[in-house]
Amino acid sequence: MDLNLTGKTAIVTGSSRGVGRDIALTLAKEGANIVLHYNKSEEQAMEVAETINQRYSKCIAVRADLAKEEECRKLIKGGTEEFGDINILVNNAGVWPKNWVSDITIEEWESTFKVNLTSVFLTCQCFIKNLLKKGQQGTILNLTSQAAFHGSTTGHAHYAASKAGVVSFTVSLAREVAKNGINVNALALGIVETDMIGDALKKNRDYYVNRIPIGRVAQTEEIAQIAAFLVSEKAGYMTGATVDATGGMLMR
Ligand SMILES: NC(=O)c1ccc[n+]([C@@H]2O[C@H](COP(=O)([O-])OP(=O)(O)OC[C@H]3O[C@@H](n4cnc5c(N)ncnc54)[C@H](O)[C@@H]3O)[C@@H](O)[C@H]2O)c1
Repeated sequence: MDLNLTGKTAIVTGSSRGVGRDIALTLAKEGANIVLHYNKSEEQAMEVAETINQRYSKCIAVRADLAKEEECRKLIKGGTEEFGDINILVNNAGVWPKNWVSDITIEEWESTFKVNLTSVFLTCQCFIKNLLKKGQQGTILNLTSQAAFHGSTTGHAHYAASKAGVVSFTVSLAREVAKNGINVNALALGIVETDMIGDALKKNRDYYVNRIPIGRVAQTEEIAQIAAFLVSEKAGYMTGATVDATGGMLMR
């Protein structure tokens, strides 16, 4: 399927590694220019940016700590200044801290919400303001988790709550901007083979795999394929949806 992304530009947060890296690479393969966002892993970000620039499309790498309001705004501003128009925003960056509710400190709670939810609000706000000002259409995809619906079973209540916020925010924003031609969807993941969950899988792989009806952990490439479809014009009739790419962990 040709996703017709040539000539479009996408910002993908947290795209130096993991799911975000493969979303950025897949969108680039489909022809989109990429604003590759990273926070700490500069070397990895530069490698991905170089691959995209050499093989597929135009890519710039932008550093921003998404726990900070001004850096969220700067990311969208920087991308817009470089490329003119940004058509696609993928909010992929996130943290998965572990602690039980009895021990979670207010600092842990707030830092989780800053990265996983507040940054999503801020980048979406900047992104839609630009589009509304120019009268342009656009697409947003926000990454969430099956834990938003099931809650956490392994000491990640703050994470699960922040990801539930992402789902609800996605629906509200979708309602607000549907008439302006801006689609906003969420993609709920189950267990994906990345650094985020690497240690947990090493310690307890069977526990996680036994919860997945398909019987295996997802690879980043197969999540990226679904994400690319969801930000393309082929999914133009979808907004306010949360698509479950969980190998059946979440069935609704
Ligand atoms: N891996 C899984 O099993 C799984 C399951 C459900 C949902 N998800 C979601 O998928 C998304 C991608 O996760 P992943 O598995 O690729 O994890 P990952 O840890 O490999 O990647 C997360 C990215 O977020 C970025 N990030 C974290 N804190 C940041 C900050 N303060 N400022 C800027 N960037 C920051 C990191 O730099 C990294 O690039 C996340 O939103 C995650 O919650 C993952």
